[in-house]
Amino acid sequence: AIVRHYKFNVVMKNATRLCSTKPIVTVNGKFPGPTIYAREDDNVLIKVVNHVKYNVSIHWHGVKQLRTGWADGPAYITQCPIQSGQTYLYNFTLTGQRGTLWWHAHVLWLRATVHGALVILPKLGVPYPFPKPHMEQVIVLGEWWKSDTEAIINEALKSGLAPNISDAHTINGHPGPIQGCSPQGGFSLEVEPKNTYLLRIVNAALNEELFFKVASHQLTVVEVDATYVKPFQTDTIVIAPGQTTNVLLTAKHTTGKYLVAASPFMDAPIVVDNKTATATIHYSGTLGSTITTLTSLPPKNATPLATTFTDSLRSLNSKKYPAKVPLKIDHNLLFTVSLGINPCPTCVNNSRVVAAINNVTFVMPKIALLQAHFFNIKGVFSEDFPGNPPIVYNFTGTQPTNFGTTKGTRLYKLAYNSTVQLVLQDTGMITPENHPIHLHGFNFFVVGRGQGNYNPRKDAKKFNLVDPVERNTIGVPAGGWTAIRFRADNPGVWFMHCHLEIHTTWGLKMAFVVDNGKGPNESVLPPPSDLPKC
Ligand code: C2O
Repeated sequence: AIVRHYKFNVVMKNATRLCSTKPIVTVNGKFPGPTIYAREDDNVLIKVVNHVKYNVSIHWHGVKQLRTGWADGPAYITQCPIQSGQTYLYNFTLTGQRGTLWWHAHVLWLRATVHGALVILPKLGVPYPFPKPHMEQVIVLGEWWKSDTEAIINEALKSGLAPNISDAHTINGHPGPIQGCSPQGGFSLEVEPKNTYLLRIVNAALNEELFFKVASHQLTVVEVDATYVKPFQTDTIVIAPGQTTNVLLTAKHTTGKYLVAASPFMDAPIVVDNKTATATIHYSGTLGSTITTLTSLPPKNATPLATTFTDSLRSLNSKKYPAKVPLKIDHNLLFTVSLGINPCPTCVNNSRVVAAINNVTFVMPKIALLQAHFFNIKGVFSEDFPGNPPIVYNFTGTQPTNFGTTKGTRLYKLAYNSTVQLVLQDTGMITPENHPIHLHGFNFFVVGRGQGNYNPRKDAKKFNLVDPVERNTIGVPAGGWTAIRFRADNPGVWFMHCHLEIHTTWGLKMAFVVDNGKGPNESVLPPPSDLPKC
């Protein structure tokens, strides 16, 4: 293992998309930002210098940060943000992790443009558990707004209404060649006949799950969220914000140019049509040829397709990569995830949309929770987050008359090395919508998923405890549930939230506090000396 040094200058940069130009916040002037390359067990040092007027913090999404929560990044959870003109050195080790992860700003809505891939190669000399690709390519999917994203969310918070949706999706920063205003701006990957390519796909979009498809080519899924899966073939992948998916693509033709598309998937009926982002792959020497288009794109409500895809994901669970699913459970939790409405006298309809877990709309603290925990500062948070729904729910029934929520900075406490089973139940109080839930600090196993209300007696019997997929972000289906298991072997304070940014903003978030263990390597390390101050 070696030490890798990176420097991230956070700077404004003008960018032109969809025929209009606006200044955006970037890392090193790039959108998407630079890819970080490292190998398993490497120590990564990234110096972040904030040259913009906004507070900044960067999260290394999917990096477990064993005992180094100070480098995790979510503002006011593990650190105070890096203020304008300030610098912070993120220092972490990629212990036992390899695959595609990513990084993004974790404050305000800056992650709209401040994000990039984090590619962790296996240790030197260790092969992939699948045929070695001829080439690898990072594909970052994103969203583009013509107007300023900070202005959009601020306006929405003032009015209490939902924010404007994006004007386009992007593939490696561009809406694509068949959108009127980016004639040559689309991304194109050059391929050689018969060669195999590893596409490392990241969904960095703020608020939308996406379908991803390549015309006339099949995709073999080999990894999700930096964990290997049993390979399977598909023509469409489904990827939620926060998730990463590695696929192999074999260039089975000899010539031509083929369309690549990322189109929105949403169960919610309110979604207006969002543009499909496009790119191409072209066989060498045929960049100028006409594009073979897709015969079809999945409709926005292709839930069965999404379900089949998600259910096809299985841990590799080989001798070398065993699935260590916790079998004995210490904490048996059920959290409802929902949108709700709270009164707001200054808002447009005298009410505002809020979101909650177990009816708690999470309130961000003024100083970082990890600091408060480490230095024993009282009055910042309480440890009484409800382990079960405080009010009766029933997604299938009519809306309850009172679907307001309570506010609080409440955490759920876990003993070091205890095991958790957490059922996340969507209660669809305003509209049915999928919630890609992301847990910091851990990977978890997805042991079950289903429609309707979770039934502990019937559903728990059908859990997959043998080869469930292991990941860091999983969709809770609209009007359904997802069950995950993990071992709390990482001391610190760990955020869990919906990765649809608007839901996080509305309060669909909470945090676990994991105690220190007794052993010498079982406690949070002391904070670095340059840890930002609030
Ligand atoms: Cu990728 Cu807390 O986020």
